[in-house]
Amino acid sequence: MQILPHYNKNKINSNSQIKNREINFNGLMRLDPKTYAPLDSWFFRDYTTLKTATDEIKNSFPQGAEILDYACSNGEETISLKALLPDTKYKITGFDTSESALKLANRGVYTVFSHWYDSFLLPNTYPKSKEAHLKNSFYNIMEETFPAPQDRLINNKKAYFDIKKSIPEFLEKFFCINSEHKNSIDIRRGNISNLDKYRTSNPIGAVFFRNALYQMIGNDLNESIEQRKTTEFIYNKKDIINNFVDKLYSKLDKGGVFVIGDHIKDHLFLADKNTPDDEIIFFKDTPFFNPENKFHRQASYLRLFKESPLRIALEKDKKFKAVGFSKTWLDIGGTKVKVPTVWKILK
Ligand SMILES: C[S@@+](CC[C@H](N)C(=O)[O-])C[C@H]1O[C@@H](n2cnc3c(N)ncnc32)[C@H](O)[C@@H]1O
Repeated sequence: MQILPHYNKNKINSNSQIKNREINFNGLMRLDPKTYAPLDSWFFRDYTTLKTATDEIKNSFPQGAEILDYACSNGEETISLKALLPDTKYKITGFDTSESALKLANRGVYTVFSHWYDSFLLPNTYPKSKEAHLKNSFYNIMEETFPAPQDRLINNKKAYFDIKKSIPEFLEKFFCINSEHKNSIDIRRGNISNLDKYRTSNPIGAVFFRNALYQMIGNDLNESIEQRKTTEFIYNKKDIINNFVDKLYSKLDKGGVFVIGDHIKDHLFLADKNTPDDEIIFFKDTPFFNPENKFHRQASYLRLFKESPLRIALEKDKKFKAVGFSKTWLDIGGTKVKVPTVWKILK
């Protein structure tokens, strides 16, 4: 994996650049040391989607609701949701399966980077930023901290030192939840497969499961394309997804939303061994394909689901309707394609 080109692409040099850019954030790569599953997350990731989802929640549940943030990793997503829904009537719980992510959540130390997309959040860095309200919502629950040396080692050190070498002014700043909000962020072990077993007397207003479904169903799309790995067809993606959507439908309250990620792996799915030919499309025939890219050309005949099985399951019997969208692409040079990320239950 080439780290530097990716980070150079995200570098911010000036105020005018930030003013003309859509708000966006990024983070350093992090892997689970046991499973090697990606754990990376960052504050306000896919802000467009978070904004639409939290506005929907406020509209549908003015009296308050419970929000289940599955696959929250070490908690940047849960904290971002709390920042956008600060009222205590919205009870937000983060869940993750990774021991390593939960350990980090327990430490409660987070980073924001200067000269980076998330510079939006640093005090005085871009004071005229049109996103000042976001910064205010962040500082409502977070404060800068100066952690002990062992708590500073929370990022991918190779990524950090590589970028620091190329951009010497690049800085990590450390943050923690302020004392007023410490008890309002609850992060625990939890697997979304057990969603049906979650018990509460409150209405469930939202289930988040962003950029993680691919881990549950083995949708190793980038790996198949970038590293030309032969995929093990051991999953039956359709069955797993259908089963999951049934649980989701029975748990979510009227007016509630289900939120997925803006990563391509939540939207474009590798076919399984037993997927019939009439449900298949070759990669070269999808809007994501870029013929100029060598990896894309090598993967021209990769077999994919013509329609996202998740989308089909959600739309079946008019269970859910897409109400929020984002853009995604295969980030080794593909075209950006609009995809649904916020789904509203129709009950
Ligand atoms: C790439 S991170 C995404 C984090 C965050 N949702 C985001 O979009 O920034 C994927 C996370 O999903 C978690 N995960 C994978 N399968 C899960 C499951 N079945 N239930 C709960 N968490 C899961 C992983 O441990 C990891 O922390």
